[in-house]
Amino acid sequence: MLPTTLPSWAHIAPGMINPRAVRLVEAFKDALARMRDEHGLTFDDVHTVTTLLTELHDATGVPLSLCAMPLFSEVFQGGGNGYTISEDVDSPTYVPDAPLIDNPGRLPMRADEPGVPLIASGRVLDGHGNPLAGAEMVIYHASNDGVYSGIWDDGQPQYNLRGRQLTDAEGRYAFTTITPVPYSNTPSQAAKAVTAAATALGRSIYRPAHIHYEIHHPDLIKPYRGEVYFAGDPIIPIDFVGPKIAAPSLQAETTLHEDPEDITAHGFAGPYNTAVYDFVLKTHTSPEAAVVGPRRTE
Ligand SMILES: [Fe+2]
Repeated sequence: MLPTTLPSWAHIAPGMINPRAVRLVEAFKDALARMRDEHGLTFDDVHTVTTLLTELHDATGVPLSLCAMPLFSEVFQGGGNGYTISEDVDSPTYVPDAPLIDNPGRLPMRADEPGVPLIASGRVLDGHGNPLAGAEMVIYHASNDGVYSGIWDDGQPQYNLRGRQLTDAEGRYAFTTITPVPYSNTPSQAAKAVTAAATALGRSIYRPAHIHYEIHHPDLIKPYRGEVYFAGDPIIPIDFVGPKIAAPSLQAETTLHEDPEDITAHGFAGPYNTAVYDFVLKTHTSPEAAVVGPRRTE
């Protein structure tokens, strides 16, 4: 006969149960069941994905949640509603304590830094369209061969193409650098199956060119973390991380300047780009939906 009460070793103290975990795991199962019914998801499909992620993790040491980011990063973006879309996740390419530069200023770079010169500028605004003065912007991007300084030992100085800048009284920022280029995630290349998987999804293994920004200001509900892209970049629709990440509202107005007099006046040796982008960020006094949308106004 079966016992009518639980043996002591089977007792689960109610305080040990995490209701949120229970709810999320059940919801995850429900979501899988819906994918099974509506899209024909099989156990083999799940196995294929987990094997790929495990292979990537083993080859790179990158945490599994980051390996899987191309699958879900769109889901967890912040902003919207007229505000600049954010990632809200620390990029693995972030390096703290980059040097403070003037405004307008120049990102630290080598004397012979390869790449097309770029002047990036714009404003940081709140949801009413008012400037956020004195906002601290952390700015960084990859070199012309697609490598971030301070992470891999590729000969770049630690803070190459990394800097911090404070917005002026009108919320303006402006800095000179070199134009980032689309790059391929080195960790992704470590697992051969990644290329096949990306191709099967109609994606390349490249990310469109972008600049990473972090923006801090006491009035902000939370610091901004995200990437700004360049309008017209042909990699955007075949982005490794998905075709919707570099949304139109995250694309800076980008212009190539080729007039020799203009080039000389700016002190460059050849054609240069300008990229204009306005951030619209939610403060404690901002409306639910921003009055002015993000991006370019000049
Ligand atoms: Fe990046």
